[in-house]
Amino acid sequence: MKSIVFSVKALLAALALQVLTLSSVLPGQIITRMGSSGTRSFDEGWLFARFGLQADGTSLEEPSGIEKPDFSDAGWRKLNLPHDWAIEGPFRVELPGETGKLPYQGIGWYRKHFSVPAEDAGKIFYIDFDGAMANAQVWLNGHLVGTWPYGYSSFRFELTPYLVTGSANVLAVKLDTEKWESRWYPGAGIYRHVWLIKTNPVHVGHWGTYVTTPEINRSSAVVKMDISVENKGKTAVEVTVKTNIYELDAQNRPRLKAASCEDKVVRVEAGSSAKTSTRGIIQNPKLWDIDSPFRYVIRTTIMVDGKVTNLYNTPLGIRTLRFTTNGGFLLNGRRVPIQGTCNHHDLGALGAAINTSALTRQLTILKEMGCNSLRTSHNPPASDLIDLADRMGFLVMDEAFDCWKTGKKEWDYNKLYDQWYEKDLRAMIRRDRNNPSVFIWSIGNEVPDQRNVEMTRHLAEIVRSEDPTRPVTNGYNDPDKSRDAGSPLSLDIMGVNYFFGQQAKWDADPRYIAKPTIGTETSSCVTSRGEYFFDKEYQNWQISSYDLSKPDWGCSPDDQFRTHTKFPNLLGEYVWTGFDYLGEPTPYNSGETNPPSRSSYFGIVDLAGFPKDRFYLYQSQWRPDLPMAHILPHWNWEERIGMITPVHIYTSGNEAELFVNGKSQGRKAKKPGQDFRLVWDQVKYEPGRVEVITYKNGQEWARDVVRTTGKPAVVSLLPDRKVLDPDGTELAFITVKIEDDNGLTVPRSHPLIRFSISGPGEIVATDNGDPTSLVPFNSKERESFNGLALVIVRAKKGATGTIYIRAAGDGLKTGTAEITTGALPANE
Ligand code: GAL
Repeated sequence: MKSIVFSVKALLAALALQVLTLSSVLPGQIITRMGSSGTRSFDEGWLFARFGLQADGTSLEEPSGIEKPDFSDAGWRKLNLPHDWAIEGPFRVELPGETGKLPYQGIGWYRKHFSVPAEDAGKIFYIDFDGAMANAQVWLNGHLVGTWPYGYSSFRFELTPYLVTGSANVLAVKLDTEKWESRWYPGAGIYRHVWLIKTNPVHVGHWGTYVTTPEINRSSAVVKMDISVENKGKTAVEVTVKTNIYELDAQNRPRLKAASCEDKVVRVEAGSSAKTSTRGIIQNPKLWDIDSPFRYVIRTTIMVDGKVTNLYNTPLGIRTLRFTTNGGFLLNGRRVPIQGTCNHHDLGALGAAINTSALTRQLTILKEMGCNSLRTSHNPPASDLIDLADRMGFLVMDEAFDCWKTGKKEWDYNKLYDQWYEKDLRAMIRRDRNNPSVFIWSIGNEVPDQRNVEMTRHLAEIVRSEDPTRPVTNGYNDPDKSRDAGSPLSLDIMGVNYFFGQQAKWDADPRYIAKPTIGTETSSCVTSRGEYFFDKEYQNWQISSYDLSKPDWGCSPDDQFRTHTKFPNLLGEYVWTGFDYLGEPTPYNSGETNPPSRSSYFGIVDLAGFPKDRFYLYQSQWRPDLPMAHILPHWNWEERIGMITPVHIYTSGNEAELFVNGKSQGRKAKKPGQDFRLVWDQVKYEPGRVEVITYKNGQEWARDVVRTTGKPAVVSLLPDRKVLDPDGTELAFITVKIEDDNGLTVPRSHPLIRFSISGPGEIVATDNGDPTSLVPFNSKERESFNGLALVIVRAKKGATGTIYIRAAGDGLKTGTAEITTGALPANE
């Protein structure tokens, strides 16, 4: 078997302990963030004001001197991070579709007043931004401490020189999205977490560990750790570096010690840094896998003169990766077809503001579908996503750029490329190279410079200089001409977006014969949840949900499955996209007609997190052992009595019999490798009951039933949790269903629902997944879309009690839900 072997390994990362004192970091405590001890959240208590372009399109002059400590910020808005200033809208229909019709462009200023105690004199302080959109400039007490333009990168600035201990300090951050353009909604603001790090002068550097696992077998794993030690002090020091490896439990607590590495002593000159390496052996290692993502944590202890000066946590997962040209991708020696989705970074109604509950919900939905991999299209994700992927068992293709030197928009990365590509690329890799979920680096997506041999080679070399253990790819939308030009030769994996027409030729080309290929982007099917059209696929800015519509470069999911049957050596695919996202409402992008569409139709799941039919098509392929069957469309077609109304079935079985009101419509079987759905296209509509009985290898396998429903009668609320942590961040997602008297969800029902809340909670956002809805996400009133809506609730910080949520609609029985917050009830 020809193969490229990438030994297992793990990460490094952006994690840092949320612990204030060094001595408090002991095995057994929850690690809220990997990295350095003395890291604390800096998300709370900011002031915000917007200048330049305003939400309504007018402009407000930016005063001078905002960075100065004595600038008057009285009257500025108080808020906590993460914050996306654009998501509250209002939607403006005249804005281009790619913006999500949200007025994200403007100049945002954030200020934070804070103090550090006098006894912290002599300590070193840093501030870490997980991401700020965009063109960040940061001042402390009126002094510029740094700038970082690319809104998706994580970055650190040192505060020590300008920080006053025992007194007030003012941090000021300016962001400018007037000079940032994107093909999708980028969000705006400090939309990811911010951290303050306090440490002694001698400590592990920023992203200063790098762990690899050069040898793994059943009985042992060799762990190699490179450590960079910084000395910010005034004299040279002899530093002892101790390294222990612990098992990490599901709550992120270090448990059993798994190994100790050799102690190292290293001399570090004043104002300088030095590197050292150590090794340890874990006996009977527990592997990280997508089905059982077992994790370790490596704790590095830095000591000077017998005293601990810094502790540093590094994530570790032990797994082997192997990418072959004739046997697919092997994880821990087992073939795992890549069943991936591309996803942009927004979280629907919450915008770009990162939130763990929302991300967890997304990944849970994707996992249920059988998705095992994520492509972070087309930029470095929040480290929270990488952390969750580690925990939940997803493989991540970590992607850096949507363009290099030649842009796609006037104000995209082309303006930054020359000065920043190396810093941004290294930042992504150093942050994420210790995380076991990350398994492929992508240097770009459909970059206009994709045929450039020299640029491709140069970027791939930068990646390998940071991490030679994972393969490098690039997503080509012109794979044929690029292979002709030879640019993919310096990559490890060929990434193809959509165009597999000449795959057979390239598989036989001696230059590419040893290069595995992956579908970096596939399908681009477009649909609206719950809409079915029988004459034209596209109507009223919606798209029929028979899962056959696509732009001319795309294909149906079925067609892509056929491609994989034809080319079984492909490593797998990343479907465009897992979730609908804000912006790029193809085919209703803005033109002369200015359509109302504000979000995409590409998602397998809609913007509110409700699966579309395609979810079940992918599930039938990606979870072949799960007995499942799904019927489409719904069966409420009073105007179609007697008319042909095609019925499609998605099932993991291979045969099915369809019944309408008990009458068999015939039994059909899939042709292996050819059919991925079963179609009855001569069914005449009559109200009642449609049932499918599916079979696998002759045995009954799974059933599904769809019934004609009665009229909307009841609003029913289905919270995804009963208890909310009042930590100010956890969210409950409540599904709102419009039901008939028998509890059936009524398709094609769009009643206006009014939400109210009492008790210690607040409504954060509402949505319904309708790509044409221009109702602001913070509205407490919203129509349901084809029988469903969503309300997102947060507990008030520190509060205890019961939150009551009500959803009322004219002529409908009001829906209610209760969520407890604060101390858990005794029986929980
Ligand atoms: C691809 C592109 C994606 C998205 C998609 C829509 O060409 O890489 O970012 O635009 O098309 O089909």
